[in-house]
Amino acid sequence: MSELVSDLDGSGLRLRQESVDARHGILLYLEEVTVTFDGFKAIDNLSLYIGDGELRCIIGPNGAGKTTMMDIITGKTKPDSGRVFFGQTIDLLKLDEPAIARMGIGRKFQRPTVIEPLTVLENLELAMSGAKRFRGLITTRLSGEERDRIDAVLEKVGLTEHSGRLAGILAHGQKQWLEIGMLLMQEPRLLLVDEPVAGMTPAEMDRTAELLRSLAGSHSVVVVEHDMGFVRSIADQVTVLHQGRVLAEGRLEELQIDPMVIEVYLGAGDAYH
Ligand SMILES: Nc1ncnc2c1ncn2[C@@H]1O[C@H](COP(=O)(O)OP(=O)(O)O)[C@@H](O)[C@H]1O
Ligand SMILES: [Mg+2]
Repeated sequence: MSELVSDLDGSGLRLRQESVDARHGILLYLEEVTVTFDGFKAIDNLSLYIGDGELRCIIGPNGAGKTTMMDIITGKTKPDSGRVFFGQTIDLLKLDEPAIARMGIGRKFQRPTVIEPLTVLENLELAMSGAKRFRGLITTRLSGEERDRIDAVLEKVGLTEHSGRLAGILAHGQKQWLEIGMLLMQEPRLLLVDEPVAGMTPAEMDRTAELLRSLAGSHSVVVVEHDMGFVRSIADQVTVLHQGRVLAEGRLEELQIDPMVIEVYLGAGDAYH
């Protein structure tokens, strides 16, 4: 968005979008949000606050409302009632999906959506300029500043050495990192990440944990994840969703000995999935 004033962090990434007012330390507010599907409350009076620069994990049994919650934040689903604000002033319920994305909310779905016949570099160029401005791979001339932004993202996601490779031949983990890189090209303030380590090797999981931790601080990151080892390795604060509302919130070690949390997971017939 041209009216947004951005500045550069140490690695050359443009991160701050000053029009989002997170002065009170909270970047995302969900308050008393309810979503009903055919009379069933998928989200039931949910209140949740994500701090500016925070890395938050959301866990909860199947059907708890995790995906619906992300759909509400990104504008895919509009709630029946409640308030959803990005910073103090931006009412997300008044915006559609593309407008919310332009405000600086990026979502990574579980399946990577990289463009396989393009190189890593070309995928990042496309993510930066958008399809309309992407005038052809050979003729596209990047400005110095654009090149610096791409280099910074390549470095951040660990793909500098692979920039000339076709995305289609990357390993599964590398594709996921490329997609995170593509989101970063749009300079989001908030990143929503759905099950990032599904199908990854342990080494790829470690690298992903490192990447997400490195994004926190300059971004807020919300991760929905089933893998408890992974959750333990990244998050300070964990929120347990159950039946569309917050059951418990705190450090994972505390939650794992919380009788209510244990009951929900055992009740689902499957401990921590
Ligand atoms: N579009 C929809 N129509 C009807 N019911 C839905 C729809 N989306 C989700 N639900 C229901 O809402 C509840 C929450 O779903 P979801 O957000 O996908 O949970 P989670 O991601 O935590 O597994 C589930 O009971 C699901 O069946
Ligand atoms: Mg889900």
